[in-house]
Amino acid sequence: MNLQDNFIPFHRPFIGAKEEEAAIRVLRSLWLTTGKETQFLEQEFAAYLESNYSQPATHSIHPEPLACLAVNSATSGLHLALEACGVMPGDLVLVPTYTFTSSAEVVRYLGADVVFVDSLPGGFHIDPVSLEETLKKLPPGRAKAVMPVHFGGLPCDMEAVLSIAEKYSLKVIEDAAHSFPSPLAPSPHVGPGVMAGCAGDAGVFSFYATKTITTGEGGMIATRNSALAKRMSIMRSHGIDRSIFKRYTDKKASWYYEVLAPGFKYNIPDLLSAVGRAQLSRTDEMLALRLAIAKRYDEAFAGDKHFTIPPTGPGDARHLYPIRINSRALRIGRNEFIERLQEQGIGVSVHFIPLHTMPYYKQRYNLNETDFPNALESYSRVISLPIWPGMTENQVERVITVVKNLGITYTF
Ligand SMILES: Cc1ncc(COP(=O)(O)O)c(C=O)c1O
Repeated sequence: MNLQDNFIPFHRPFIGAKEEEAAIRVLRSLWLTTGKETQFLEQEFAAYLESNYSQPATHSIHPEPLACLAVNSATSGLHLALEACGVMPGDLVLVPTYTFTSSAEVVRYLGADVVFVDSLPGGFHIDPVSLEETLKKLPPGRAKAVMPVHFGGLPCDMEAVLSIAEKYSLKVIEDAAHSFPSPLAPSPHVGPGVMAGCAGDAGVFSFYATKTITTGEGGMIATRNSALAKRMSIMRSHGIDRSIFKRYTDKKASWYYEVLAPGFKYNIPDLLSAVGRAQLSRTDEMLALRLAIAKRYDEAFAGDKHFTIPPTGPGDARHLYPIRINSRALRIGRNEFIERLQEQGIGVSVHFIPLHTMPYYKQRYNLNETDFPNALESYSRVISLPIWPGMTENQVERVITVVKNLGITYTF
């Protein structure tokens, strides 16, 4: 058998005729940068996020309509959201250590500092108890915002995060890069029918190549705060007061614009937005396919002493399948396990290497690897298995067989 022919990649995007037609439509329109397609993507994305509301008109917690702003990456979106919240040098932003570097780097872009928070024991999400303990130790008034991360498609405990944020007057910027679509469980601070990414001051989704819907690179900000939306809309386009589309399509004074602040170049081109609209229209189809794979993995690995299946719960979009190997049952560590998987043609990944172990943050904040024991524990055992919508049943079964057989081979 040629293993390369049989290779199962960690991820493969679900791209078809709809996406191809969308890209061709834009190329033929000759309007390639941000324009109508992006406006439609923003409206359609907002409508999808709001589709869970049963009675939007009577919603007392979130009376303002949801605005969506498309950007060229989730990283840009997180940067814009913190900037609009007024985060500046001297401020502190609480970020889980168990996340991708984007969540923390944007804090540093603004000259503010990151305060890491440990994960739940045996989990991947921010631990509300650690969050509050950490806040108690900070100088009063310095903490400006918290950035909960809805890891792997599973929403974090937003009720706990929002009530702590209220107590300490923190802005809440949700990193929902992994979590579209992930409905939140209704609760006093969240309210009914709210999606992950729509419960805080702003939430940011990623359309990176491996995400649940993709434009190759791209992202979307959601907010119900019109002042934040206005600031982010200006800052995503150089701090200019008028959109590029308006400048070139308005009949009068198309050349005139004013720079209100030194902004950023964070707009997404229509070529990508059109692909995003095609992907958005297939959200439910792709979700159903991932849910079916996750169910099969859960059944296969649940009773196996060599592995621990990922925590799941209501609203889990099953973006990742982060299985944990049980070091007490296995003779080999996570890294060697991954090597064996790769030798057998299974592509995997690791989410995440905790940020407090990274040289930059270690040095800047004088951190030790053991400062966040729960995150370190998860990291040392985790392997993300392939879970992408186009996987065939045979491919899913082969992943299961290879993983389980390795478990048997390397039992103590
Ligand atoms: C948790 C998390 N936040 C933010 C990002 C950044 O997303 P983007 O690549 O769209 O900037 C990622 C990317 O993988 C991520 O995993």
